[in-house]
Parts: sequence; structure tokens; C-alpha cells
Amino acid sequence: MCGIVGYIGQRQASSILVEGLSKLEYRGYDSAGVAIINESNNIDVKKCKGRLANLEEQLNENPIEGMIGIGHTRWATHGEPSDVNSHPHSNEKQTISVVHNGIIENYIELREWLIKEGYTFKSETDTEVVPHLVDYYYNGNLLEAVMKTVKKLEGSYALGVVTSEESDKVVAVRKDSPLIVGLGEGESFIASDIPAVLNHTRDVYLLEDNEFVLMDKNGVSLFDTEGNKIEKEVFHVTWDAAAAEKGGFDHFMIKEIYEQPKAIRDTMTSRIVKNESIKLDDITITKEQIKNIDKIYIVACGTAYHAGIVGKYAIEKLTRIPVEIEVASEFRYRDPIINEKTLMIVISQSGETADTLAALREAKRQNARVIAVTNVVGSSVSREADDVLYTWAGPEIAVASTKAYETQLIAMYIIALFFAENKETLSEEEIEDIKEEMLALPEKVEKVLEGKEKIKEFAANICNNKNMFLLGRGLDYAVALEGALKIKEVSYIHSDAYAAGELKHGPIALIEDGTVVIALSTQERLFEKMVSNVKEVTTRGANVFGIAMEGHTEIEKTVNESYYIPRTIEVLAPILSVVPMQLMSYYTAIEKGCDVDKPRNLAKSVTVE
Ligand code: M6R
Repeated sequence: MCGIVGYIGQRQASSILVEGLSKLEYRGYDSAGVAIINESNNIDVKKCKGRLANLEEQLNENPIEGMIGIGHTRWATHGEPSDVNSHPHSNEKQTISVVHNGIIENYIELREWLIKEGYTFKSETDTEVVPHLVDYYYNGNLLEAVMKTVKKLEGSYALGVVTSEESDKVVAVRKDSPLIVGLGEGESFIASDIPAVLNHTRDVYLLEDNEFVLMDKNGVSLFDTEGNKIEKEVFHVTWDAAAAEKGGFDHFMIKEIYEQPKAIRDTMTSRIVKNESIKLDDITITKEQIKNIDKIYIVACGTAYHAGIVGKYAIEKLTRIPVEIEVASEFRYRDPIINEKTLMIVISQSGETADTLAALREAKRQNARVIAVTNVVGSSVSREADDVLYTWAGPEIAVASTKAYETQLIAMYIIALFFAENKETLSEEEIEDIKEEMLALPEKVEKVLEGKEKIKEFAANICNNKNMFLLGRGLDYAVALEGALKIKEVSYIHSDAYAAGELKHGPIALIEDGTVVIALSTQERLFEKMVSNVKEVTTRGANVFGIAMEGHTEIEKTVNESYYIPRTIEVLAPILSVVPMQLMSYYTAIEKGCDVDKPRNLAKSVTVE
């Protein structure tokens, strides 16, 4: 939920930390701060409420000189966004400073104990117990003190710690919150995510839980919980640093929407090839194991959950295996029926979402096999699942997920086809037909993007509306759910998706003159039914934007504006029909002057419960 960075080297830490934080602001932007060991060997802390730009301004006015430091960008959980609750947090003497991503679940108990020991607290945060605990255990060795401290902590954490007593060290550790180490020439970095170090190095360590990092003038050393040195493979990042920049677009969100054809192509490459069986090198599940599966759970959160709904339709249709789809935060506490014949598919762009990870662990505890669909190589879900299917969307920086969703859909289709092939539920010709349609999707998405002006115009007309409804049947309903989430997230318009057939069971009471309705009607079999539902709302005064496949011009008779997507087979239509929804949410937000890349109250990856 927050982003942390750390630096040690020969350059001024301040600008390197701020630049690193700018790449992590997607993780939270309620406040930001740095702690730098200055030239007099004291810790200088600057932190303030608000965006990173506020901190930068303060640092420009009063620069801190020093070549070792840690930094933080916050998404508030414990304690409101304020200067005092901003990280870094320090001990009373200000000789120890800490940045933290995660939640210390037993902080109340620790806080009470520390108060009895004579410590005083300034903030309302859970994190502040950490510098006091390090202070309590400090006996001339920072690494040892941090090791003792984390033994007391329950919850999730990625921590970066410095002390003026050993002014040539940065110590870090992770548990259930991501952390990487960047290996530069004569300099080292820690960060919550790779883009934060990519301007300086492409060689990183992807840390596992309970691994400790000591960065000093000799470089980087890694330790286990017992203090034994450990060796780790260096991961070389191959993707381009420019992939995490705006590249001429006004916002990451629109850049990422335009990257979708490439992301879809990359995710299919070498997996979907004409006249060849589906190749999933990264999946080791055997034909026998596939035949043995009697139930699939798809579990995810937010947009990934919506991709899972499409996955359920596709897998059931193509393989006839029953699929249940559920949000991870419910699944993990529901006591679901799982056994060795259950397959779980978790979907997570970041691979670090706390609820998804907990659901995965629960399924594994009950002996289910788990396939992870994720966009981040080396992420927690990728490490803990039995099999991984990577989506090759490239880094997704905008908080609102777009290209990750598209590639998650492609991953769902790939899994469905792979199982259909193994279970022989479809003929070779049927599989080839679907593959051919899939291979044509990138160009068709490009075509949908060409129609953006019409969406921009409609967005300008409706941006002041307070409510919006999205209707669909079958897969269109799944896309409507995703469209409604996008609109809520970035344009702050209250938007709800309804299965169009449910309308008359209650929601239609909300329709009045001028109510904005987006009607998705891409499913051939259900088209006539949708037209009837659209009529039900237009006769009550709704302003309807209809989306249908090319050729279904009848829609024009019932809606105020129509938008056509290129023809494809029904099961693949979500790949195309979601694009006008994404554009609608983007342009509505722009019209309203919202901060599309960093919507209020949100963070990109939800690594806390
Ligand atoms: O990284 P994940 O895919 O696990 O994230 C899940 C959700 O938090 C995420 O999709 C969220 O709903 C997005 N902001 C939606 O745009």
C-alpha cells in the first residue's frame, strides 16, 4: 500500500530517493518523506502530508546533503494523512529511522509495552513501534537489532532502517510485502518495486519473506532469520525503463489503454500459434491432472475479479468443468469446500494483493493445486502457486487497471483452450477457429480505439451526472461490472452494473429523465433480449449509449448514441467491448478535472487487508 526506497552510494541520496519515490507514487500518495544521514552523521528527516511534489519543494528550499538514506510514499491505514503520521518514523533521540510498507497487526500491544518501558509516541501509526523496538534492542549492531525487532512483529512489512550510530549502513527486511534490492556500481538500493531503481540498475534481488538485507560500502549481503549469510540469484530486468514512463501521453492510463494491442499480442506469443497445440511452458499440470479436476475456483480482487468472471464463462463453455468465481476477501474467510481435485486460479496484476495471497495459501493448505495469473515476475503469488501463467502487459502504473485486465482475459482464454485440448471437449477445428479469432484481436482493439472521438463527445455531455448505470447480459454483464468500476474509480461518478434481466426486479426504479445508461449488447444470442431491456429504460427517459457488434444497426433505433465493435465470436467480445468503457471513464474523468492516474483514496496494489 505504501512505497519504500533506500540508497547507499557515492551520490547525493536526496534526489535518488525522490526519483525512486516518484516511480512508486502509484502505491500511495497521502504523504511522503525521507531520512538521510547528513554530513555531520545525524539523521535529517523531512516529511509532509500530500503528494511527493510537496516534499520535493521542501527539499529544494532546504536541501539535505548525504549519501545514505531511506524514503517513503504513504497510503494511510493507521492514522490520518498528516505530517506527523508520515514516514520515516524515528526513535526519540532521532538516531534510528524507519520506513515501512504493510501493517503491524499487534502494534497496540507493543505500543503499550513500549510506553511502560518509558518510550513516548508522536504519531497514531502502527509503524512507530518499529523504531522504538530497534532502539530497545540496539546494542551497536543495527542488523541484529532489526532481527530481534521483527521477531516481535505480527503482520506484514517491508522495512528500511538506518541509524546514525552506524552511519554507513541500510538494513531491510520483508514479510508479506514486496521488496527488491538494486545492485549498482558502487551503490545499492532497496525499493518496493523494480521501476524505482531502473534508471540506475537492471540487476536486482527479488527478496523472499524473512530475508534480511545489509547494504554498506562492501555492497549487499543477505541473511536468513538466524543471521546466516545466504546467496541469491541476480534477476536481470529485461523490460525497457521507458515502459514505465508516459512516453508522450498525458497520463499513464491513456498510454496503457493504447498499449493494449501490444500487451494482448505479447501475452499470446508462442502460446497461441496456428496449427500448433497450446504451449504453456510455465505450466506443469499434466493431462491426467486436468482430467481429474472436478471444480475450479477463480479468486481475485477488483478488476482481476472481473477478468475472472469472464474466465468462468469461458472455461465452463469450452471445458464443461464447473467454475466458481469469488472475491478473495470473502473466499479466505468462508470455509470453502476444497480438496485435491480442486484447482484454484488466482488472478493478480501485482501478484502482491494481500487477500488474494491469503486465499491462495488457504487453497494450498487444503491441498488444491493453484495456478497464478500475474503480471509481475517473481511476485509473491508467482512464487507460492504451483504454476504461473504470466501476462505480458508490461508495467502498469495507472491505478486504474486497463491493459492488465485485457491480458488477464487472454490468459483465461488460453487456460480454457489448454484444458479443452487436454480434455478433448472441443474438436481440433473448433480450437483452431477460436485461436484464429484470438490472433485477430490486437488489430480489432486498434480499430475500437480509432473511435475515441465519439466517446469523448458523449463523456463531455454526461460528466456532470451524479449516477450512471451499465447494463448487459451474459459476458456483457461481466464487462459492465468492469466498466462501472473504472467509472467510479477515476471519474467519481456513482456507477452500477446490472444484469439487464434483473432490471425490472428493482433497479429500474432509479431510471428517470436523463439517467445515463450504457447498454452492452454484443452477445448475438441475447441481442433481442437486450434491445427489449434498452426499450424499458428509454421509455422512462434514460440517455442511452449502446455498444453492439458491427452489423447490429437495429440498436440505433432504441439508443441515443451507438458504438460498434468489430465482429468476433461471442466469448471473445469482452476484449473489444471493455475498451469503450475504459475510454469513457478516462474522458469523463478528464472533463471533470480528476487526477486519473492517482484517484483519491486508492492505491495500486493493496498489500494490506
Ligand atoms: O494487483 P491485483 O490485480 O491483485 O489488484 C487487484 C485490485 O486491487 C485492482 O484490480 C483494483 O481493483 C484496480 N484499481 C482496478 O482498476
